[in-house]
Amino acid sequence: MTTAAPRAEPKTVFIKTFGCQMNVYDSERMHEALSAQGYVETSELSDADLVLLNTCHIREKAAEKLYSDLGRIRDVKAEREVAGKETMVAVAGCVAQAEGVEIVRRAPVVDLVIGPQSYHRLPELVTRRTAGTAPVVETSFPEDDKFAHLPARTGPRAATAFLTVQEGCDKFCTFCVVPYTRGAEFSRPVASLEAEARRLVSLGVREITLLGQNVNAYHGEGPDGEAWTLARLIDRIADIEGLERMRYTTSHPRDMSDDLIAVHRDQPKLMPYLHLPFQAGSDRILAAMNRKHTRRDYFRLADSIRRARPDIALSTDIIVGFPGETEADFEATLDVVRQVGFAQAYSFKYSPRPGTPAANMEQLPEMVKADRLNRLQGLLNQQQSSFNSGCIGKIFPVLFERIGRRAGQLIGRSPYLQAVHADAAPELLGHIMPVEIAAAGPNSLSGVIKAA
Ligand code: SAH
Ligand code: SF4
Ligand code: F3S
Repeated sequence: MTTAAPRAEPKTVFIKTFGCQMNVYDSERMHEALSAQGYVETSELSDADLVLLNTCHIREKAAEKLYSDLGRIRDVKAEREVAGKETMVAVAGCVAQAEGVEIVRRAPVVDLVIGPQSYHRLPELVTRRTAGTAPVVETSFPEDDKFAHLPARTGPRAATAFLTVQEGCDKFCTFCVVPYTRGAEFSRPVASLEAEARRLVSLGVREITLLGQNVNAYHGEGPDGEAWTLARLIDRIADIEGLERMRYTTSHPRDMSDDLIAVHRDQPKLMPYLHLPFQAGSDRILAAMNRKHTRRDYFRLADSIRRARPDIALSTDIIVGFPGETEADFEATLDVVRQVGFAQAYSFKYSPRPGTPAANMEQLPEMVKADRLNRLQGLLNQQQSSFNSGCIGKIFPVLFERIGRRAGQLIGRSPYLQAVHADAAPELLGHIMPVEIAAAGPNSLSGVIKAA
């Protein structure tokens, strides 16, 4: 009989994710890649052998969050060192891509900087840093497709999942860092997406949201060797048995093609919700933003989408205080909101980003931006509240996704992406139930399950 060697404690990783849904997806993939190397996730920073921050560079505030976190992490690392424990600190995401080695200069606590196109190399780079001395910085755009090298999906173990189908952007809106941080537009082949979607469904996923910075510019290679549109991809994935719902985000008005609009009419698994950023209401500002669409284009699109799917809930992104925006330009933005009507929206003060053309234009005073954002959000909140209260008395199929804060309660989503609270047994997680909406708040609904 041999005595077993003392088993080493598994290494732990603490992951914090900032920014958009694609970062959420990427964090899951990095988590899976690290799990394959024996890492276990921890929710306690002080327990972590590896701290992974997946960052966002879209606005100044988003990027600064990294540095305020790194200050705290430096203290934790020092405390752990006293206890004889090593801590590796890795920065991933769009700040990693945009700032690269600058991060290590500004925050020497950082061991590893890794850009979004190199995530398949994360375990190898961690090993390299463990063995070597100098901090590792990997921000190149490699030739090989990271998706082909990441391990097969093992999570998420939830009812809903994201699936990146397209990454990068060639549009170069003058305010935006994404074309620099995510690189050129790239579409994954249909076969690889179908395989990943099937795997997700076999893991219990009931709803898949297809992701891309410009998801409707998707043009991946189909099984026939042709470039497939997003519309064809949606129909193909919707055929997977056991998958109940689909969504996609984020779309650019310019790529909202007729075949995609038709899928909203013809594909019952595609949920009646569309996030379609318009950014600004005046054609002069849209041109300065290099948005490549006009306000009229947007009105026409909203009309044809509503003709295809009359109950669709529209959502959008809006920027106020772009350089040169006059009060009249801003009024034009309010006017688009009034005319189109949104169930939900994200609105931001323009934030100058290093390296983007608009950062060099003459900037508006902070007070003007703050005042406009305030007025815009007043209107958007009013629209959202009235959309939500218009749902009272209706019966919605709700997909239950997570446990609520109150005992006995689950939280799910309506077809229109509203959060819905209802008293429900935990066995109903992952199931779609008819819920009669009884009350509406600004950000969520609540209701009662109707007996089938
Ligand atoms: N891919 C998405 C945008 C991702 S960024 C698209 O093309 O719509 C999400 C939102 O952040 C943008 O729609 C825009 O409204 C906002 N945003 C981007 N850059 C910004 C900046 N410099 N200042 C303020 N908001 C910005
Ligand atoms: Fe940024 Fe414009 Fe590309 Fe969207 S379309 S990611 S806003 S550059
Ligand atoms: Fe932020 Fe990068 Fe997403 S800048 S919004 S994390 S694509």
